[in-house]
Amino acid sequence: MDHKSQINIDNLPSHVAIIMDGNGRWAKRHGKPRIFGHQNGVKAVRETTEAAAELGIEYLTLYAFSTENWNRPKLEVNALMSLLVETLRKEINTLMENNIRLKAIGDLSKLPSRTYQALLEGMAKTASNNRMTLNLALNYSARWEINNAVQLIAKDIEKNVLQAADLTEEIFNQYLTTKDIPDPELMIRTSGEYRISNFLLYQLAYSELYFTETLWPDFRKEHLYQAIIDFQSRERRFGKTSEQIASNKR
Ligand code: FPP
Repeated sequence: MDHKSQINIDNLPSHVAIIMDGNGRWAKRHGKPRIFGHQNGVKAVRETTEAAAELGIEYLTLYAFSTENWNRPKLEVNALMSLLVETLRKEINTLMENNIRLKAIGDLSKLPSRTYQALLEGMAKTASNNRMTLNLALNYSARWEINNAVQLIAKDIEKNVLQAADLTEEIFNQYLTTKDIPDPELMIRTSGEYRISNFLLYQLAYSELYFTETLWPDFRKEHLYQAIIDFQSRERRFGKTSEQIASNKR
């Protein structure tokens, strides 16, 4: 039986977040430079976006470039930034045809200006699409995001817009880059690494984590289906007991 037909459409995660990892190792296995891995990673981005939209997933967040990635060799960073611009420009019509909204989270204004411009154009053009949101984490790290939220909160307290005593989890959430997006129910990391790597640390509090040995450039629709089937087999307790969850279902 194919995996897609095993998915329960009534129990889909509304938000799936992915750490796309293993491009470099994939390239090495093919005896090619690292950028060849990133170029082939774009195919996986396309397939995963298509599969997620077809299934009816509302939000797909992809960790495309972390604040730590600037420490990579300059050649690789430049090539990645060019690849992003090229991909954004090339794929924007496909996003329009498929009614997909492009969004980005991270310290975006510090991206090279041509990457930033391509991103702003893509987001503006797709702003009213509403089938699925493709959210790219770019120059993103969760510690940056949390620090940024605390700074914004401090400023609002200083301006008397907010009282410290009124700061609830819901209000804190409004200062995060994901303020309009529900927390991911499922986080996938490829390439057999078992880490969160500074990705959505606040938002992943109750997410189901799924790790696969598959390297990102080899990730295809079937791999996403398998991750969702695994997600659907889990019991999400949110701190409650199994018995409580079962009695609520009755
Ligand atoms: C991690 O693999 C991958 C990245 C840091 C970049 C991901 C970027 C893309 C797939 C390209 C374009 C994306 C979009 C959204 C248009 P790695 O280089 O850390 O691999 P390694 O761990 O094997 O070295």
